[in-house]
Amino acid sequence: LTAIGIGAIIGGGIFVLTGTAAHYHAGPALALSFVVAGIGCVFAALCYAEFASMLPVEGSAYAYAYGTVGEMFAWLIGWGLILEYAMGAMTVAVSWSGYFAKLLHLFHIEIPFWLRNDPFSAAKYATDNGLAQPGFAMNLPAFIIVWVVTLILVKGIKEAASANNIIVVLKVSAVLFVIIVGAFYVNQANWTPFVPAPETVTGEDGNPHTAYGWGGIISGASAIFFAYIGFDAVSTQAGEAINPKKDIPFAIIASLLVCTALYIFVSLVLTGMINYKDIVGDALKAPVAYAFEKVGQTWAVFIITTAATVGLISVMLVMMLGQTRIFLGMAKDGLIPQFFCQIHPTFRTPWKSTLLVGALVSTVACFTPI
Ligand code: ALA
Repeated sequence: LTAIGIGAIIGGGIFVLTGTAAHYHAGPALALSFVVAGIGCVFAALCYAEFASMLPVEGSAYAYAYGTVGEMFAWLIGWGLILEYAMGAMTVAVSWSGYFAKLLHLFHIEIPFWLRNDPFSAAKYATDNGLAQPGFAMNLPAFIIVWVVTLILVKGIKEAASANNIIVVLKVSAVLFVIIVGAFYVNQANWTPFVPAPETVTGEDGNPHTAYGWGGIISGASAIFFAYIGFDAVSTQAGEAINPKKDIPFAIIASLLVCTALYIFVSLVLTGMINYKDIVGDALKAPVAYAFEKVGQTWAVFIITTAATVGLISVMLVMMLGQTRIFLGMAKDGLIPQFFCQIHPTFRTPWKSTLLVGALVSTVACFTPI
């Protein structure tokens, strides 16, 4: 169960958003952003742990709200979860695209920039690199991976479950690898000053904002908060636990603590290996791999890029599975149309809502920046 939690948590947050958060918000103090966000998450995790031991049922926060404060709140929380899982899947899809493009690049295959960027990022890329503005742009890899995951989910998750364990081992190994090997390439000058003085920077959306300083640590925390999402996935597995009252709270807290420690170390190593000011352009799309490229360790880039490309798929599976199961629960309770609980005759999955979720997630993922 703890492995399920860790598998759902470690994803685009640590592999991609660390770059964005360091460059646009916190600088080297990104590690403190992870501490702040981690503390916030512990409170949520304690609530989940307590609810999970009181109500060991599937359906997560939606079911807890239903069982304690009634239908109205359950409906609100159900939609909150849908928003969380859908936005999560979109963000991870964009993250995956960055690492996938990097992997192809290692094999000297280049995807044109207007086919691996949303229109906003493509326009910025063209400006930054002195290229002509593209007439059309979409993040094609993000679009495709969402549909691959959608079709796996329509067909059924059984096979995916055993693959998940292998993926979790691979992903955690990659993160440990980054911490241990990366530590040898830390240049302490990159950490000074650890909390840079506030300054105005132009954000990814092209608008200026105040970055760094203590305010930057807090806005950095909100930017990477997403990296912690996933511990709640453990609570959806209550039906599978031997002793749910004990096992589920343990797994929720354990997976969160393990990931918090890993995140703090990765962010320290990352901002120690490269200066946060240098995380720009394509480096923002795969910052961890880029850091190793910068110190000349191409073999490490290959390992990290492969692990991230494979590892991010399991996060998307969990997010999109969670999303359709919340729809299923809400439809069964009559809070949303019956369309969402129609089960495929052969595959036994809620295929219509899965396809609808796939269409939504893929569209937003390919047309908007991370
Ligand atoms: N925590 C998950 C991630 O970072 C959602 O990708």
